[in-house]
Amino acid sequence: MTVERAIANGMVETTKGEYRTGHDPRTLRDALGCFATGVTVVTCLTDDGGPAGITVNSFTSVSLDPPLLLVCLHKMAASATPLIAASHFAINVLQTEQQPASITFSARTEDRFGSTPWSCGEAGAPILKDSLCMFECERYAVYDGGDHHILVGQVVKASFDANLDPLLFFRGRYRRLHFD
Ligand SMILES: Cc1cc2nc3c(=O)[nH]c(=O)nc-3n(C[C@H](O)[C@H](O)[C@H](O)COP(=O)(O)O)c2cc1C
Repeated sequence: MTVERAIANGMVETTKGEYRTGHDPRTLRDALGCFATGVTVVTCLTDDGGPAGITVNSFTSVSLDPPLLLVCLHKMAASATPLIAASHFAINVLQTEQQPASITFSARTEDRFGSTPWSCGEAGAPILKDSLCMFECERYAVYDGGDHHILVGQVVKASFDANLDPLLFFRGRYRRLHFD
């Protein structure tokens, strides 16, 4: 039996994948998952004054002058509506001990803020306690990004704790930094 036929029969676990436009989105997701990221929770206050927040790893720095960053929010995500409407939002970069917060803010939980200690930042957006880093931002622009909104923020304030290690996400799983 050829190797190709063995793979086709599911007898050999493939370690390499290939995607072409129009192919299955699963393979594209697997390819994108090869890019290791940190994990953030993006927050704002809604029109009625309550907190909203969502786990996001599509966080990227954009510009130093002016200081800009972006996140991509799925248009079907409930949190996307208040986040693109808010004048200010916060990006909480998570540390290793905050994996439960990442799970909470990505799950269908009614009260995401009930189990996660937080306070209001200077611009009003919720700041999660003990985060590795936080960026308080003023909304700068919202662009169309296919099935996502691209939300660009101008950093008003940033602070960080240099003693903490980041929570990482790679190939669909939470990871830790490994130092030799
Ligand atoms: C590690 C991780 C990263 C994620 N990154 C994003 C992201 O960048 N953008 C996004 O829209 N959803 C992302 N999600 C999915 C949302 O967190 C998830 O769909 C959430 O339940 C949406 O909540 P909502 O519908 O209440 O807004 C991510 C989830 C996880 C676990």
